Amino acid sequence: MDAILLEWGGLLIRWVHIITGIAWIGSSFYFMHIDASLKSAPDIPPGKGGEAWEVHGGGFYHVRKYLVAPDKLPDELIWHKWESYSTWASGFFLLVWVYYFSADLYLIDPAVRALSPWSAIGLGIGSLALGWVVYDRLVRSPLAKNEVALAAVGFAFIMGMAYFFQQMFSGRGALIHTGAMMGTIMSGNVAMNIIPNQKKVIAALIAGQTPDPDLGKQAKTRSRHNNYLTLPVLFLMISGHYPMTFTSPYAWIMVGFVLVAGASVRHFYNERHAGRGNLWWAWGLAAACIAAAIWLSMLSNPTGRQVLGLKRERAVKVAGSAGVPKAVDEILASRCSMCHARDPVWRGIVSPPKGVMFDSHAQIVQQRDLIRMQAVLTGAMPPNNITDMSIAERRTLAAWLAKQ
Ligand code: HEC
Repeated sequence: MDAILLEWGGLLIRWVHIITGIAWIGSSFYFMHIDASLKSAPDIPPGKGGEAWEVHGGGFYHVRKYLVAPDKLPDELIWHKWESYSTWASGFFLLVWVYYFSADLYLIDPAVRALSPWSAIGLGIGSLALGWVVYDRLVRSPLAKNEVALAAVGFAFIMGMAYFFQQMFSGRGALIHTGAMMGTIMSGNVAMNIIPNQKKVIAALIAGQTPDPDLGKQAKTRSRHNNYLTLPVLFLMISGHYPMTFTSPYAWIMVGFVLVAGASVRHFYNERHAGRGNLWWAWGLAAACIAAAIWLSMLSNPTGRQVLGLKRERAVKVAGSAGVPKAVDEILASRCSMCHARDPVWRGIVSPPKGVMFDSHAQIVQQRDLIRMQAVLTGAMPPNNITDMSIAERRTLAAWLAKQ
């Protein structure tokens, strides 16, 4: 496909995905907040719902919740399901567009596993389905009676899958599939449990029967799981833009830390909105987890040196200390400039990616920090080392950069 159309497609699908995601997460946070802040109402028996008053946009809203359902069904009901379905559909489309159409650039890293595009795509889609099946079985199993045990097994499963993806895909591909699998579980909850259960309740009411209260309880459990998964999923969705996450060999452990951090922050708000106080320790835990993830990202880089120990690179000899030495020039010309030039020669790339060009010494010096992040501190560039850059070449760049 024409490279410009490919870029535009990516931009437009991402735009839609972000909009639908905001709508879904926004409405889901909103209902969690209402649920937590319901007060008892005189005409609703305790444990069967409640009411809340809200003020917004110049008006007052009186929201009432009926568990399992009101005595008489209203004529019109507003459903909240398309936010979720359209977020999943646009996200899946974006995954196909970016990662499956350009599998060699984004999904497959021959140094990890030399998969053919079709087997990589099959593996990716298969794991999304597998994630849902395993989660759904877990929630229906006797284990689910114990919430802590279920959370521990679910946590181990997600980390295990992140590790598995890291053995199969590029770093970016691994993190995006971990996030996509969790997002699929969340949307699966809406499509396969929450909405069908709601429909069963309505059908029972119309038939004049008493609906099974367990249906509502199941839906609430699934919706709570979604709530705790939301923040970690968002992190994983944007992590592909930050090489210090996706190029780290410890990325799967970072996933674990991010899961705990995101869930703690949600927990803080869930408890606060329910009037059970401010659990400040949840923020402390989240901060400790993020600090641990940052530390992990510093533990390794492609030159085989600890990032914090980069100063040692000064020992490597690079001719000339000012400007751009010939060795550096040659490395950039032979490993990067086929894509990063005003007129790239790499098939499928029509303009320099992200506007990064190495046509003149001035440009190279100006972009030295970007070069350091992409090719020395992390191995994000060349993408999946597609132009076979050697570790010695990265060290030469590091030595030059240390003098800048
Ligand atoms: C096969 C083509 C290709 C080669 C070779 C290549 N890059 Fe890139 N580069 C890309 C693409 C595609 C992107 C945009 C990545 C994205 O969308 O996140 C990019 C992005 C970048 C960025 C911007 C990152 C950002 O998000 O700000 C820098 C800096 C960079 N490359 C440096 C390099 C260096 C240094 C080399 C050589 C060691 C190199 N690239 C080799 C294709 C290439």
